Amino acid sequence: MKLLVAFAIVAFVGYVSAAPKPQEVTIVQNESVINEDGSFRTVLELSDGTSISQSGKIKNPTEPDPEKKIQVIEGSYKFTDAKTGEVVNVKYVADENGYQPVLSRK
Ligand SMILES: *[C@@H]1O[C@H](CO)[C@@H](O)[C@H](O)[C@H]1NC(C)=O
Repeated sequence: MKLLVAFAIVAFVGYVSAAPKPQEVTIVQNESVINEDGSFRTVLELSDGTSISQSGKIKNPTEPDPEKKIQVIEGSYKFTDAKTGEVVNVKYVADENGYQPVLSRK
C-alpha cells in the first residue's frame, strides 16, 4: 500500500511537471500620446504577440462648426486564436463612412 501511494505521488509529480506551464505575459510596449489638436496615438504590445494600436485625428480641424469636425480613427489589433493557433489581425478605419474592419488570419 505504501509503495502504491509513493508510486502515485511520483506519477502525479511527474504529470504536473510535464504539463505545459502557462507563460507569464508581460507588457513589451505601452505608449500613449495625446496632442493639443485632438490627435492621439496609443500602442499596447504584450510578450505573447497580442497587440493593439490606435491613432486618431480631426480630419478638418479648421472647421468652425463642431458638428462638422470629423474624427478619424485608424487602428489594428492582433492576437492568437487559442482554438486554431492562427494569428488573427484586424485593421480598421472609423470615419464619416463608419467602422471599416479588415480581418486576416494566418
Ligand atoms: C499603460 O500606461 C498607462 C499610462 O501610464 C496606464 O494607465 C495603463 O494602465 C497602462 N496599461 C497597462 C495594460 O498596463
